[in-house]
Amino acid sequence: MYILALESSCDETAASVVSCDTKKHPNGIRKNIRILSNVIATQIDVHRQTGGVVPEVAAREHVGKMLPVIETALSQAQVKITDIDFFAATTGPGLITALMVAAETAKVLSLIYHKPLLPINHIEAHIAVNFIHGTAIRFPALALVVSGGHTELILLPRVGAYQLLGRTRDDAAGEAFDKIASLLGLSYPGGPAIARAAEKGKAGTPTLPRPMKDKKGYEFSFSGLKTAVFYATKDQKITPTLQANTAREAQEAIIDVLVHKTAKAIDEFRSETLFLAGGVAANTLLRERLTTMAAAKNILFFKPDMVCCTDNAAMIGVAATQYLDVKKRAKPQDIRVNPQWELV
Ligand code: KG4
Ligand code: ZN
Repeated sequence: MYILALESSCDETAASVVSCDTKKHPNGIRKNIRILSNVIATQIDVHRQTGGVVPEVAAREHVGKMLPVIETALSQAQVKITDIDFFAATTGPGLITALMVAAETAKVLSLIYHKPLLPINHIEAHIAVNFIHGTAIRFPALALVVSGGHTELILLPRVGAYQLLGRTRDDAAGEAFDKIASLLGLSYPGGPAIARAAEKGKAGTPTLPRPMKDKKGYEFSFSGLKTAVFYATKDQKITPTLQANTAREAQEAIIDVLVHKTAKAIDEFRSETLFLAGGVAANTLLRERLTTMAAAKNILFFKPDMVCCTDNAAMIGVAATQYLDVKKRAKPQDIRVNPQWELV
């Protein structure tokens, strides 16, 4: 089976060809999932000029880039469009006009080539990209979802089933990285900029809070951390040392809370597998800390390759492998984007 998957929910225009077998492993995951191409046209340089994503600007950029990105994805995979069995596109959550570009393009392809269109949830896709590990995965599994718009702990009792354990009450982890970076005069996107600056920094100067760390349950809150950074740096000259130290401590604070709550959830729900998902999964320190924690608990830990952490279409294609034998499907022309589509 060949799937052509499209993604344009925020600031990356992406297309990917994913292949798989029709058969499934005993754990319910489709056999032989392969990412044959994963093409991403990033808009980072455009949005750096405004320090963040302006939705209409993002949508216009997607319109210009979508078709060339699809052509490259097909040619890199050495698959003809007439060989595609399913089209898939992110239909939410995300920025409405941006989402519409991938969704409308996929609808047209689906109608022209008479192949089904699978509408895919962006957050499910961030988690499901880990399903390429196939039969090695054991359930129940826990997913730590950390992106620009989401911070959630989600339990998967089995493949395709999602239970929300807790989410952020305010800012997402990626948003905290981005806003703190902006306070420190670091460039967009903030996550990688903080991680780079932190390499030369010293933790504990200033000391920042670990919000919600010792509270019961699995809710997060990161807006207070941003305020703490504001007051810790207010009226000070932003020197490279202040930048590095504050970045280091802020990164430590965010990761400390994420790892602590994740470890608690693993114990309470006896998860056999941990999935890391979302753009913040690209953070090297977070990957290392979770690797150590999962090893200490003797559970499986899967994290996406770097290129599959931030937004991409391969994750949409891999998520789509779960929906190939759904019997009743909406007609492509009836599929609508939903900017607020919550997975759970
Ligand atoms: O999943 P994603 O690409 O887009 C959304 O669905 O939101 O996540 C983007 C987020 C941004 O907030 C960005 O700063 C963060 O992921 N990010 C990182 C790193 N790379 C990207 N955060 C921390 N460390 C990184 N290396
Ligand atoms: Zn994302």
